[in-house]
Amino acid sequence: VGGSNDPRGALIVLEGLDRSGKSSQSARLVSYLEGIGHSAELWRFPDRTTSVGQMISAYLSNKSQLDDHTIHLLFSANRWEKRSLMETKLMSGTTLIVDRYSYSGVAFSAAKGLDLHWCKAPEFGLPAPDLVLYLDIPPEKAAERGGYGGERYEQLEFQKKVAECYHALRDSSWKIIDACRPMEEIEKQLQSIVLDNILACKVGKPISQLWS
Ligand code: TMP
Ligand code: MG
Repeated sequence: VGGSNDPRGALIVLEGLDRSGKSSQSARLVSYLEGIGHSAELWRFPDRTTSVGQMISAYLSNKSQLDDHTIHLLFSANRWEKRSLMETKLMSGTTLIVDRYSYSGVAFSAAKGLDLHWCKAPEFGLPAPDLVLYLDIPPEKAAERGGYGGERYEQLEFQKKVAECYHALRDSSWKIIDACRPMEEIEKQLQSIVLDNILACKVGKPISQLWS
């Protein structure tokens, strides 16, 4: 880890409904950044490789049942267990492109009817993203895209509620991206927004904490 004057990486999060294109666009962004010589990594939440992540994965594929509050806290724990590595990477100059983060955590649980403030509480103190790219798509359109994969939550009526909850979480770090356009067009737009953001972080913008 370099000294405090070394440029840090940016924490950039992609959010959106299931089938909004986050995973494809995140992967393309990382290849683009690496191609022009930036240090960048693709991360995703839930991170299903940890033991907490395996519990989450079993729940999502309906192999286990958990109380709504319990699964909410597991999703949050799954971010906390990655926090120190996340901060180390950022401080050493690596930009992290993260496919889902705390906003998914809050939006999906609040869509079940859990209290919004209760949902936000366990996320307090995690590194706040420098930029949130929200891939905006009507729930009906997302549902048409090759269908859902059959995991829990991949249902139109539920996704409509998730979209409303996401809406309540928007703040100044968010950029709303029209995700109904052709993939290449979205890709180009994301590249330019992300480059600007990485440069802003390099010139000394400090890492803040949720929920700022
Ligand atoms: P994935 O399809 O991106 O792997 O995410 C799996 C599902 O988990 C997706 O429907 C969104 C949901 N989710 C939560 O409910 N809470 C969270 O904190 C995260 C990261 C995802
Ligand atoms: Mg999924």
